[in-house]
Amino acid sequence: VETELHGSVTIVVLGASGDLAKKKTYPALFGLFRQGFLPKKTHIIGYARTKMTHEDYLDRITHSIKTTIHKDEDETNQLLDKFKSITSYQSGLYDQDDSWKALDKCISQSEHQRQIDIGKKHRVFYMALPPSVFVPVAKGLKKNVYSSEGMNRLVVEKPFGKDTQSSNELGRELSGLFKENEIYRIDHYLGKEMVKNVMMVRFANIFFNQIWDRKYIDNVQITFKETIGTEGRGGYFDQFGVIRDVMQNHLLQVLSLIAMERPISTESEDIRNEKVKVLKCIPPIVLEDALLGQYIGAHGKPGYLEDDTLINKQSRTPTFAALTLWIQNERWEGVPFIMKAGKALNDAKVEVRIQFRNVAGSLYKGSPRNELVLRVQPREAVYVKFNNKQPGLSYQTIQSDLDLTYDNRYTNLDIPDAYSSLLLDVLKGDHSNFVRNDELEQAWKIFTPLLHTIDDPSIKVPITTYPYGSRGPTELDQFIKKYGYDRANENYVWPVQSL
Ligand code: BG6
Repeated sequence: VETELHGSVTIVVLGASGDLAKKKTYPALFGLFRQGFLPKKTHIIGYARTKMTHEDYLDRITHSIKTTIHKDEDETNQLLDKFKSITSYQSGLYDQDDSWKALDKCISQSEHQRQIDIGKKHRVFYMALPPSVFVPVAKGLKKNVYSSEGMNRLVVEKPFGKDTQSSNELGRELSGLFKENEIYRIDHYLGKEMVKNVMMVRFANIFFNQIWDRKYIDNVQITFKETIGTEGRGGYFDQFGVIRDVMQNHLLQVLSLIAMERPISTESEDIRNEKVKVLKCIPPIVLEDALLGQYIGAHGKPGYLEDDTLINKQSRTPTFAALTLWIQNERWEGVPFIMKAGKALNDAKVEVRIQFRNVAGSLYKGSPRNELVLRVQPREAVYVKFNNKQPGLSYQTIQSDLDLTYDNRYTNLDIPDAYSSLLLDVLKGDHSNFVRNDELEQAWKIFTPLLHTIDDPSIKVPITTYPYGSRGPTELDQFIKKYGYDRANENYVWPVQSL
């Protein structure tokens, strides 16, 4: 079956006046355009409720692009002018057939002008929208704007519900309108370079592949740290909290790639089958395996509850969580997978840290454990902490590293933005880096009971506080230690960090 959208496509950005479109979708489309990856006869139509002139629309969508491209200004401006010539704006409502019909007419006219052949009138609908309008928009599109003379693709982004039930309901509504192979559920972590590298590290290297199990691995940590708080997003964030915002989706996706069995091929369904299988082996997270926190003001920065955009000033929504997941299968039984995520911390980084067991009967007692670290951001890196002889006359072991920091190793490094990479996959019809409906269902099953407990006002689960800009709750070190993480090397500094 031909899945690549050759030659022509109309990309409709729904919610074109919003923040996601401005900050992510249009810069990603421009990134593809700049590198010649958009099919030749592409037209991009922005659609939203706001009435805007063509000029206002162009100003808005190029605003973030201008701040992200630092290369030759003249060249960028020329390219931007060309990019502007392939896009237009149409305003309309999200729940009115007339509005959708007008959009359909606008697309048809553009298809006619571009002389697109019958059978090739492909349409990609990118929903950069709040979840409250996902279903009415999908209905309006299916009824009025669906191409009968080409392929249709619907790109949708979290939040996919708030728990198992609401996610399933949304899934049912969408699957009544679009086929599963027409739906692309974005989790932008799957578009990140290092996340795309996990399978390669595991399955293209005999040494990692052989030691990837409970016999050799003691614990796994997946860490997400941000220095910014929820300023300006309090209204959204308070409805969700850090667990729904980044753990149930982004970090769980990373976990499933780390923990899944080897797929029988690199085809998208083979990969997704394995991800679903491993998720099915993870029982729901229990409260005893959770540490929750909320930041308070410090160093002149406001605490979570002082955020102007927050409505409930007594909110108990966690802005930090450490959760331990267990995988009940032959490979992983007894190995804790510790996820940690927090806003308003001392550092901004995302990494996977795999800590191996002690060497049995070691000749070199007290040598620290080996670790493999996949640094997702910033500055992508894969490094292994290992023990080496102290060079010289000494026979001390010294912890050293095998370091693959990308910007040291690869010249002309041009890592695409996650959204560009995923949009290219949409154009190619490759679902590997998108979340399948059954995968989403399994993901919610793992988190829903804990989330319901946290949300229940009569239970009042303990939530500790931490100052803005700190390492997180002071209980964290103890929490991680409880699951076996050995911080034997307090003094170890990854040399590249200190550059
Ligand atoms: C989003 C969350 O999905 O991911 C944000 O809603 C978070 O709260 C963001 O900041 C992190 O993405 P990235 O690409 O900046 O690591």
